[in-house]
Amino acid sequence: MSDHDKEIDAATGVETTGHEWDGIRELNNPLPRWWLYIFYATIVWAVIYMIFMPAWPALPGMGTNTPGLRNHSDRDLVAASVAELRDARSAQGQELVNASLDEILRDQSLRQFAQAAGESAFGDNCATCHGSGGQGFPGYPTLADDVWLWGGSLDEIEHTIKYGIRQDNDETRFSMMPAFGRDQLIETGNIRNVAHYVRTLSNLEPASEESREGRQIYMDNCVDCHGENGKGMVSEGAPDLTDSEWLYGDDYNTVYETIYNARNSAMPAWGERYDDATVKALAVYVYSLSGGES
Ligand code: HEC
Ligand code: HEC
Repeated sequence: MSDHDKEIDAATGVETTGHEWDGIRELNNPLPRWWLYIFYATIVWAVIYMIFMPAWPALPGMGTNTPGLRNHSDRDLVAASVAELRDARSAQGQELVNASLDEILRDQSLRQFAQAAGESAFGDNCATCHGSGGQGFPGYPTLADDVWLWGGSLDEIEHTIKYGIRQDNDETRFSMMPAFGRDQLIETGNIRNVAHYVRTLSNLEPASEESREGRQIYMDNCVDCHGENGKGMVSEGAPDLTDSEWLYGDDYNTVYETIYNARNSAMPAWGERYDDATVKALAVYVYSLSGGES
């Protein structure tokens, strides 16, 4: 480029740079000063940043990136805040283990902690059997109602969760309804009769010849657990047979099957898998599902 190539463009009155393509010439418009100053400032800033903060990736022979004078590390910061959170949680967890139901319900932050921890553990381990809102499935009791096999106070729920049902430990919830048919304790005809009688208790069918026969069979074999009036017994985990809540189903065949073979279903002892704080949190969560004030 030589000076004589630079001309003044006729249309704009601006000097050209001398660059030309097919008769199109480039105007010489310098960058605005403010733009240039900002540009220089970013360069200076980049140099300062490189000195103080981690900037260069690992170079050959250097194990890691350059740490910078401030020795800053996001990884360490995250590790530190995770550790802080864990400390806070285990402190709250300890508080939860020691708190009574009343104290938990009164203490807003403890309650929230229990609810959140309980809900997440429930989703991981309980929802497969009890449903995501505790609505239950045939054979797996609904937890979101006021009907309890083994008791619905916070302490009782906690005990059930911790030691499980029909498990191999001394504290587990335990009872065994006999398999009246399979083990030939009651002859088949009388199992039919008692099945009819059971269904009359909740008005699923009217009293009949069979159900009247069945009543005596019931009185001889079932009252120890289900009670004379059929109201069930929490100490035996025996359900109320007079209500409309059925664990296994209320149709005749299902009731017959239950009496013939018995079910005696089991639930794991969650205390073997979870610490006390999580078990308590689960109990609070389950308690709240049933509409317990929480
Ligand atoms: C493998 C299936 C299964 C899983 C998983 C399971 N449960 Fe259960 N649960 C059962 C069965 C079956 C029963 C009823 C047993 C019986 O008494 O007949 C039960 C009963 C209960 C009861 C007693 C209900 C009452 O009416 O007294 C509670 C409370 C309970 N489960 C809570 C939980 C919690 C909390 C979890 C998760 C940590 C959980 N369950 C996971 C199968 C399961
Ligand atoms: C040793 C205690 C015991 C005795 C005795 C007993 N039951 Fe049960 N029964 C239970 C338990 C516990 C359950 C529920 C838990 C399970 O089996 O999973 C149950 C469940 C049932 C159910 C199912 C209820 C539902 O909601 O689906 C029926 C029906 C029933 N029993 C009828 C009888 C009849 C009829 C007799 C007498 C011939 C009898 N039981 C004797 C303990 C007993």
